[in-house]
Amino acid sequence: MTRHFLRDDNLSPAEQAQILDLAARLKEDRFLAKPLQGPKTVAVIFDKTSTRTRVSFAVGIADLGGVPLIMDAQGSQMGAKESIADTARVLDRQVAAIVWRTFAQSGLEEMAAHSEVPVVNALSDEFHPCQLLADLLTIKEHKGELAGLTVAFIGDGSSNMAHSYLLACATAGMNVRIAAPAAYQPDAQVVADAQAISASTGGSVTVTQDAKAAATGADVVVTDTWVSMGQEDQKAQRVADFAGYEVDASIMANANAEAIFMHCLPAYRGYEVSADVLDGPQSVIWDEAENRLHAQKALLVWLLQASARDVRG
Ligand code: CP
Ligand code: NVA
Repeated sequence: MTRHFLRDDNLSPAEQAQILDLAARLKEDRFLAKPLQGPKTVAVIFDKTSTRTRVSFAVGIADLGGVPLIMDAQGSQMGAKESIADTARVLDRQVAAIVWRTFAQSGLEEMAAHSEVPVVNALSDEFHPCQLLADLLTIKEHKGELAGLTVAFIGDGSSNMAHSYLLACATAGMNVRIAAPAAYQPDAQVVADAQAISASTGGSVTVTQDAKAAATGADVVVTDTWVSMGQEDQKAQRVADFAGYEVDASIMANANAEAIFMHCLPAYRGYEVSADVLDGPQSVIWDEAENRLHAQKALLVWLLQASARDVRG
């Protein structure tokens, strides 16, 4: 059966752990695995802009022995002229996997429903699961075992990053706290899903409006932009609504003395995070950005193996 990675809880706790272990091995020995030797091609499609995701998938696919086919949606027929389902049927005859950054999660689900090769969510409006694999790898490197650690996400609780933090950290058995203004709380179903996962992994889920309380005693403090891609016309309103949620030295002072600060980037200094925190000694953002490469390579290796299918590409 073809395995897809559309949201963080598509992986069981054991599967997530396997991928993180493999990512650490691939970081030590970059050319350890060559499942795309041939070379096979992976389609990487962007409906939104990207630096890290574009580069890390292109480099990672090449490292695995394959060829990345980077496509911008505007240059393809998908969308107005051709359905997502028909696009999937064309691509899966030729490529080994489809990686797609898009808007609605439903588009990814439609692609996966019609693709015989793995489909990977490279960010949607709802989730950013590849980023979370990199983030968990980074936390492991700095803090050791994930289970039992406390993560505080402060900012836009309704964002793709907050939703992925909920699901991925619950899967890893972590205590995840989201602090967000009332109008920007996480989706209730995602919170419920994270709570259900936590019940079996020993993690916990807390949602609050109190940024300082969320940060108190945290091992990891994380934030993301207040204005995600597609929300640019709401910028003035959002900047006003998020007043008091900037991660600055006073927020970090509540966290554990050894706490690390994370941000998926791109970051906006003076908005969701102060420059002294983003560029300060607790920040691990450059490790986090590099780990996109290692985590996604491990994900592709794992998905291709787990899909147990003779890939035509
Ligand atoms: N963090 C992240 O996904 O960055 P890009 O938007 O540059 O890909
Ligand atoms: N929440 C941000 C993440 C960017 C990597 C966005 O969707 O724009």
